[in-house]
Amino acid sequence: MERVFLRQWVFAGHVSRVRNVGDYFLFTIGNESIAVIRGKDGNVHALFNVCRHRGSRICLEAEGNKRTLVCPYHAWTYATEGKLLAAPAMADGFDSSQFGLHKCHVRVVEGLIFICLGDTPPANEDAFRDWEIFLKPHGLTQAKIGKSMIWQVSANWKLVVENFGECYHCGPTHPEYCSVMAHALPDTHKANKHVGEFADLTAAWEAKAKKLGNLTGRVPHDLNAVHTCVRIPIKEGSLTASRDGRPVAPLMGSFADYDGGYTAGRLYPANYFVACCDHAVIPRFTPLSPQCTEVEMIWLVRGDALERKDYDLKNLTWLWKITTDQDKKIVDDNQAGVNSLAYQPGPYSQTEQGLARYTRWYLDQMQ
Ligand code: FES
Ligand SMILES: [Fe+2]
Repeated sequence: MERVFLRQWVFAGHVSRVRNVGDYFLFTIGNESIAVIRGKDGNVHALFNVCRHRGSRICLEAEGNKRTLVCPYHAWTYATEGKLLAAPAMADGFDSSQFGLHKCHVRVVEGLIFICLGDTPPANEDAFRDWEIFLKPHGLTQAKIGKSMIWQVSANWKLVVENFGECYHCGPTHPEYCSVMAHALPDTHKANKHVGEFADLTAAWEAKAKKLGNLTGRVPHDLNAVHTCVRIPIKEGSLTASRDGRPVAPLMGSFADYDGGYTAGRLYPANYFVACCDHAVIPRFTPLSPQCTEVEMIWLVRGDALERKDYDLKNLTWLWKITTDQDKKIVDDNQAGVNSLAYQPGPYSQTEQGLARYTRWYLDQMQ
């Protein structure tokens, strides 16, 4: 927590959760409770949910709307931006300006709210610029949450994130994902046949997507960068990442047509997005304790789309619901094995080299 999560940018939630002044939600990470709130000044703030009097939690409900934040203990009252407005019966000379709520750094990137709990956030300018470029066509700022689901995984966050970061397990674990996503089998086996087929598919798709003016390819070229963004084809003939390849929701953002592309990004330590032309999935990986990690999957659809009329929740969530159920199981079992006396880390395969790089970055943070 100290060396990684309390220093880096962490995705907290989608901006639709705090559209109106006073809207807030609580984000719990490790021992910390952060109130992410839309202030009267129009900005998103992330306030430590810790009273400056004697330290009580202030907001107790997971989400809501508040004009002011009133501590339930002795009623110190704070503004939505964190300033202390009232503190009963304090002595003359009490300077309330010194007792505003402690704040996190906040950065909103294409509708995704990132916070940094540390004093000096990493710049990550290149990363956020690339995320903006790749996310812009998807229109996530105007999106709404179609559905979100939470899994409690009985494992350390690093096992959870490493699992999400490799597709070596896709073949053995995710038959559904492999049936939808053409990259999965080549990424599992590295067999020449699969790799060649995917390269051909990608070349043909890129030519079509470029004609439509859509993004393709990968940035940055430096594999040791802390972030990556990429657009790849889903599968021959598929318009979106759904069971039958057909759309599951209305087109989002500036897409004029379904181009069959899949946009994905990551930023260390644990931030990701995946997005098709008609929906996006934002995972949120949050360490709660050494062997408990919360995984939330957030499905975004166009802001004016209506459930049942424009999208069906079963179709929308099918792929990542089933895939995350499977991932929870394998990661729970992974942690159980790692806890054994006999556990020793084994060598990574060729398709897990991203994890080797990630582990080197992690060790750098620990030094
Ligand atoms: S602890 Fe919050 S008002 Fe006393
Ligand atoms: Fe998986």
